[in-house]
Amino acid sequence: MIDPPSRRTALRGRLVSFDADPALSAHAVRFIEDGIVVAQNGVITEVGEAAPILKRLAGDVAVVDHRPHLIIPGFIDPHLHMPQTQVIGSYGAELLEWLAKYTFPEESRYGDPEIAHEASVFLIDELLRCGTTTAAVYCTSHPASVDAFFAEADRRKLRMIAGKVMMDRNAPPALLDTAESGYLQSKALIERWHGKGRLAYAITPRFAPTSSEAQLTATGVLAAEYPELHIQTHLSENHAELAFVRELFPWSKDYTEVYERHGLVREKALFGHCLHLSDRERNALGKADASAIFCPTSNLFLGSGLFDLAAMRGAGIRIGLATDIGGGTSYSMLQTAAEAYKVLALNGQTLTADDAFHMMTAGNAHALGLETRIGRLAPGFDADMVVLDSAATPALRRRMARAGTLSEELFVLMTMGDDRSIVATYAAGRRVHERHGAGVPGLAPREEAGRAPASPSGERQSAQ
Ligand code: GUN
Ligand code: ZN
Repeated sequence: MIDPPSRRTALRGRLVSFDADPALSAHAVRFIEDGIVVAQNGVITEVGEAAPILKRLAGDVAVVDHRPHLIIPGFIDPHLHMPQTQVIGSYGAELLEWLAKYTFPEESRYGDPEIAHEASVFLIDELLRCGTTTAAVYCTSHPASVDAFFAEADRRKLRMIAGKVMMDRNAPPALLDTAESGYLQSKALIERWHGKGRLAYAITPRFAPTSSEAQLTATGVLAAEYPELHIQTHLSENHAELAFVRELFPWSKDYTEVYERHGLVREKALFGHCLHLSDRERNALGKADASAIFCPTSNLFLGSGLFDLAAMRGAGIRIGLATDIGGGTSYSMLQTAAEAYKVLALNGQTLTADDAFHMMTAGNAHALGLETRIGRLAPGFDADMVVLDSAATPALRRRMARAGTLSEELFVLMTMGDDRSIVATYAAGRRVHERHGAGVPGLAPREEAGRAPASPSGERQSAQ
């Protein structure tokens, strides 16, 4: 099907992509009932109705026929923690206790490269199994954890963003760096990984309570030296956290000013949670063109609060939707969107299916400042795609019999769907996950990075 160096892939199915934000435009969604996406060397070259494209391809490319499934851009998860895959579902604590009791002890293990490697392999497998092709990832304060994650992401030719957590106080000694070592280690990792393949480095001060003034100052210097890099941190998640920030930074009028004062509020700065912001703080984020990342399963699980989407939109802030594994409880962006809907309902707000699917794809790309590279089925975009089965379970199949429109189908899919609906995941035009797995009779093994791809399984394939 695909021959290096001019690798070409063609996928046929029901195409859904967003050309604009459905909250702003009535014509945002593009749906092609019988469409084809053609990709070459990892990039989409053509998208359109199947019939004319088949004619043009004239048998040059074997078309993977995913009908009747949906083909959409790969999901994007703009906030999660690589070392927390064995923290998910830890009982009975709010944020600060949850960090001290479960998370910090777990993260203390990740100086061991073997542990970091094993967890990175697991995490990436799981993300792809859930249709997520790009994520913004917190590693631990150990540089080895970043090396392990990036090496695995690069081996699979994924577009991933990650960084070493910087933290020099209020945590166990095994996790602490210093203002100087945090800066130097981050800089070395930037030089080693940023721009390699599809990888990007994110400057990652964990959150204000675990960084001294000296560390935040050094982080600001680093951010100024690398103005094109992402910054990721947490902001205004929990009331006890807010009180702690007031105690640690008595000069600051609010939480956001701590980051502003150190030059950390800017474009491509990703602020996880943002639940208890004042109007002033929201306006500051909007003015700086920063991004607020909504993590609904985490906010519910840790009892942190309800994200105010309308207020965020009103302030012109870029908004992302993320799992926040492992404060969050699901790897699935579909489940994350379902919980987002419920959180908003508690606040008298709503989220249409178009809004949600836009958020998971082009919207999250915008939140990451990657809106010209990922999140859409359009020529020039990375060929990262997910194939969705709207009738993956008996309950879905039964419910879908009553879904009359695409929007209704998408809404039921996000409400009742999960990893079982992910038929296949493609990254840079290569199939990197298939639902039934390798070794099932009649199915070819999944493609490994760097190897010629096997023929896709469970799907009709025809040389056109
Ligand atoms: N704030 C600081 N660190 C963390 C973390 O690991 N998870 C969450 N949810 N919030 C944080
Ligand atoms: Zn987080």
